[in-house]
Amino acid sequence: MNILLVDDNPTNLALLRHMVRKLQDCEPICYEHPLEALATCAETMPDMVLVDYMMPELDGIDFIQRFRALPHGRDIPIIMITADDSRDVRYEALQVGANDFLNKPIDKTEFLARMRNMLTLRKSQKQLANRAEWLASEVRKATRELRKRELEAVVMLSRAAEFRDPETGAHLLRMAHYAQVIARNLGLSQEQQDLLQEAAPMHDIGKVGVPDRILLKPGKLDRKEFEIMKQHAVYGYQILRDSASPLLRMGAEIAWTHHERVDGAGYPRGLKGDAIPLVGRIVAVADVFDALTSARPYKQAWPVDKAQDWLRTHAGAHFDPACVDAFLQSLDEVLAIRQRFQDVPGD
Ligand code: C2E
Ligand code: SIN
Ligand code: SIN
Ligand code: FE
Ligand code: FE
Repeated sequence: MNILLVDDNPTNLALLRHMVRKLQDCEPICYEHPLEALATCAETMPDMVLVDYMMPELDGIDFIQRFRALPHGRDIPIIMITADDSRDVRYEALQVGANDFLNKPIDKTEFLARMRNMLTLRKSQKQLANRAEWLASEVRKATRELRKRELEAVVMLSRAAEFRDPETGAHLLRMAHYAQVIARNLGLSQEQQDLLQEAAPMHDIGKVGVPDRILLKPGKLDRKEFEIMKQHAVYGYQILRDSASPLLRMGAEIAWTHHERVDGAGYPRGLKGDAIPLVGRIVAVADVFDALTSARPYKQAWPVDKAQDWLRTHAGAHFDPACVDAFLQSLDEVLAIRQRFQDVPGD
């Protein structure tokens, strides 16, 4: 424990130092000038303070007042030493935050007893603070662990889907990164961006419920087949919706709403405009852009220019214009993502 001693009288200071040394685990730090002492405290807080009342530069009450205003200065025990027996001085000192008093001349037995009391107080303060810190770090650890397990669940779902879905992992990575770029440009928090990026790959998980003859059809779907295909949005929602995990819940919401259109002509519910959750509107742009610029068993890849025009032309009808703007505003980044996650044939 570091004990700060502030007294303008060098003889008194030496005496205090001598007595503090008698206490276990206590290191005196001595100052004749209260302002110097305050400057040091602004850097490193002591564990306890003993301050004289009568000092020419700054009296004990002013000292305590300034000390209490320092960062972390609120809870440090302070004893004021006074020759002045007046009630007013003591009241004032209590008011600005003194914890105890000692009278001059200092009685050694009383000094040691009061010091021990204050040190016990300080020790339990420190233990409490350590415990709070320890608890907070345990919570952080548990949260990280939970998050890791959620991500594991998502990866396992993806693996299950990959057994059936012709879309590659590269598509999922690209569209997830596109979605994050849009979210960032729209001003969503880092936490929301991360959650969205991790949840977006689940948008088509419901395709596991679509029969192969439709899912893997090399040509155009007829009307009846497409009606069945549309169910993938509902299936995805049904697979993910009951989770308590925010990540999987967001996945459920995205799966359900990524084929809605702002003009209300989308599916499965025909939601309109802002009734479509923002994450659904974001993923719609990311997913369609990547679908258009990728080859599918039923179509060739479009050039980027054409896909870009498509997004612009259908902003306000299919897509939320704000999401399209947020996407095209970072086209360089989009192209870098496209470059980074390329389809590997046979992957
Ligand atoms: P997907 O291939 O991931 O496509 C996602 C969305 O991107 C499509 O939603 C559509 O909005 C857009 N998109 C993809 N390719 C094209 C295209 O060539 N032209 C235009 N204009 N838009 C395109 P959508 O239409 O609701 O389709 C959902 C899913 O249904 C598709 O996911 C795909 O798995 C399947 N699908 C749609 N049409 C056909 C088709 O003609 N044949 C086959 N085999 N599957 C299809
Ligand atoms: C997919 O639908 O192809 C994958 C879904 C997922 O990543 O969970
Ligand atoms: C969709 O892709 O159908 C959703 C349209 C939107 O809200 O942007
Ligand atoms: Fe889809
Ligand atoms: Fe997709």
